[in-house]
Amino acid sequence: MCRHIAFVIESPMIISELKTNLGFNGLSVLYHIARILAAGGELERVMSDILEVLEIHAGMHRGMISILSSDSSKVKIDVARGISDDDRRKGTYLIGEGITGKVVESGKPILIPRVKDEPSFLNKTGARSNLEKSNIAFLCVPIKASDAVVGALSVDRVVGNESNETLEDELNFLEAIANLIAQSVNERRKNQARIEALERENLELRKTLEDMGRPDEMIGNSSLMREIYRQIAQVAPSPTTVLIRGETGTGKELVARAIHQKSMFKDGPFIAVNCAALPESLLESALFGHEKGSFTGATQQRMGQFEAANNGTLFLDEIGEMSQSAQGRLLRAIQEKEFQRVGGTELIHVNVRLIAATNRNLEEDVKAGRFREDLYYRVNVFTLSIPPMRERGADVLLLSDYFTKKYAKIHNKNINRISTPAIDMLSAYHWPGNVRELENVIERSVLVAQDDVINGHDLPPTLQMKDLQSRGERKNTFETLVASYEKELITEALKDTRGNQSEAARVLGTTKRVIQYKIRNYGIEYKRFKR
Ligand SMILES: Nc1ncnc2c1ncn2[C@@H]1O[C@H](COP(=O)(O)OP(=O)(O)OP(=O)(O)O)[C@@H](O)[C@H]1O
Ligand SMILES: [Mg+2]
Repeated sequence: MCRHIAFVIESPMIISELKTNLGFNGLSVLYHIARILAAGGELERVMSDILEVLEIHAGMHRGMISILSSDSSKVKIDVARGISDDDRRKGTYLIGEGITGKVVESGKPILIPRVKDEPSFLNKTGARSNLEKSNIAFLCVPIKASDAVVGALSVDRVVGNESNETLEDELNFLEAIANLIAQSVNERRKNQARIEALERENLELRKTLEDMGRPDEMIGNSSLMREIYRQIAQVAPSPTTVLIRGETGTGKELVARAIHQKSMFKDGPFIAVNCAALPESLLESALFGHEKGSFTGATQQRMGQFEAANNGTLFLDEIGEMSQSAQGRLLRAIQEKEFQRVGGTELIHVNVRLIAATNRNLEEDVKAGRFREDLYYRVNVFTLSIPPMRERGADVLLLSDYFTKKYAKIHNKNINRISTPAIDMLSAYHWPGNVRELENVIERSVLVAQDDVINGHDLPPTLQMKDLQSRGERKNTFETLVASYEKELITEALKDTRGNQSEAARVLGTTKRVIQYKIRNYGIEYKRFKR
């Protein structure tokens, strides 16, 4: 670090080039800065200390050091003084954009004696919006390492009766400072490029890991669902019979299709038969087919679903609803891999992957004699238990987003967001109908939403009431809905004003006292919007 002091001394050119009519003591400022550089330490701290010296000893406010990105496409404010972190993050300029972008593009310093007269002054960070701009000058100089521009140093100078000549001398002085810090800035730039590359790599790796084995059409990243994806990948390649269990609407059929897609039967058909949807008498003939005249109404020979699924997958939904006689036929078909049509004698041989699903407790059905025990063991070789929606954590939000996009597209509506109160309601609900219920709720909300957001009041009343009733507040439906709407308005206002209660009160045309009372009453966590 001592090389910086040496650099100052060995480069009297910098000092000799400085004119003397600066509005401050240039040598003293240089001295302080050289000392900071010599002391070394963490770069962020060093840069921030230098900006502090410029403020205290040279009257240069809101100093900023911006760094050119590794692909040289944009300049980003890296260290800033007198600007909030949030505002600083807004400060990204394309090359050639705004004063900072121009300085980096041309490698030449720029002085704006009166900011308010300059149309190209972007004020992206918004840091000066509340100030009278008329008495502010803006000085921006390039930071060059080995002749290449690596960033820019800029300051605001509150001007009184300083002449333009004084400001130009200060600009030269600032260039000298930029020379002093160039090496450090360059180091920081290289470091940042390294970290950015690592972050990108890390993100990609994590995404690959998270997505590993997730079937394309299945949404959800919870650990329970990741376990399901793992099991799907594990069982799909073998011809094993799979039993899928889970509450209604959890996605059993979707999982069955995913297994089919990943199996060696994927080029064959996927045939789904809902055993609960057909009367007992028809189910057997639907599954195994029948010969002409085998029963009243059998006017011609018919091929069953087992035959239709040859070289593919047969999905037997609600298998617990099968009649005893159909169960017997199914058991034989699984054991022998061949069967006869109803009323027929010919043995038909098929190559079918069987997947069954149920939301019943098959063990109880076996005990009660409703389901054949031998069939139970034939079917229950590999079981996949799909978790209910309420146990999947943040998946409810991923799925909500996914269905919002899906139905906005289908219904040609421009909806791109779900409001915070609506998200809270979706998260608080217990989803007895699981993913299917969520899908229906979102489709309905997309249809009723008035603008580009799904608001809490677009959701069905059951969800709105659940949110408030979970804290045991109201019983009357009308009151609950009004309260829910009020809570939503306040939450949105707090969000827009970053948790500022007085501002939120102003936006809603009420008093801070009322807002504070309602925030307490509804249990709104306004602090989370302050971030
Ligand atoms: N993880 C998921 N990602 C995306 N969509 C899903 C997911 N799980 C379920 N769905 C969708 O939810 C709806 C219900 O799924 P599915 O029919 O597979 O459920 P199920 O368990 O078979 O229901 P039931 O017990 O009523 O037969 C379908 O529209 C399906 O596409
Ligand atoms: Mg189903």
